[in-house]
Amino acid sequence: MGYGLLLILHLLAAIAFVGTVFFEVVMLSGIRRHVPRAAMLQLERALGTRATRIMPWVLLVLYGAGLGLASRYHTVFAQPLSSGFATMLTIKVLLALSVFGHFACAMVWRRRGTLSGKRSDRLHVSVFCHVLLIVVLAKAMFHFS
Ligand code: HEM
Repeated sequence: MGYGLLLILHLLAAIAFVGTVFFEVVMLSGIRRHVPRAAMLQLERALGTRATRIMPWVLLVLYGAGLGLASRYHTVFAQPLSSGFATMLTIKVLLALSVFGHFACAMVWRRRGTLSGKRSDRLHVSVFCHVLLIVVLAKAMFHFS
């Protein structure tokens, strides 16, 4: 697959993923006070079901295309601190791996029945901070290095 196509797939999947996290953290938390608790629970459950169906595909494209893109920079990863670009790209990829770790934790906690509302909120906020940094680094590495 061509590099340009991989880049477009990566960008589209990033928009879908970051947009979903933004919606959950910024929009949903903002309406909680104005919606009855039972309705909110129903909405969150339905959203969860939908996300469970869609997001694995988005993540597959995002991380798959990311790996394909990274193969062009293998010399950069061999010396991750050799330049501003290399450092920022390396931190970006590490943050992306950490996001994956968050998902793994969420799945384990959900299976054990220990994924409380507070824990889930903290996970969401942490993932949101991660993806904001990832996007900033993804652009900064080209323009500020
Ligand atoms: C949460 C996960 C990720 C997000 C939100 C994300 C987001 C982005 C964004 C927004 C860009 C800029 C694309 C553009 O404007 O052209 C980018 C570029 C890039 N990403 Fe990711 N990414 C993620 C995961 C990964 C992973 C796991 C890898 C590698 C293993 C990766 C490797 C790259 C590379 C190499 C570029 C630079 C491509 C180029 O322009 O040559 N990304 N990423």
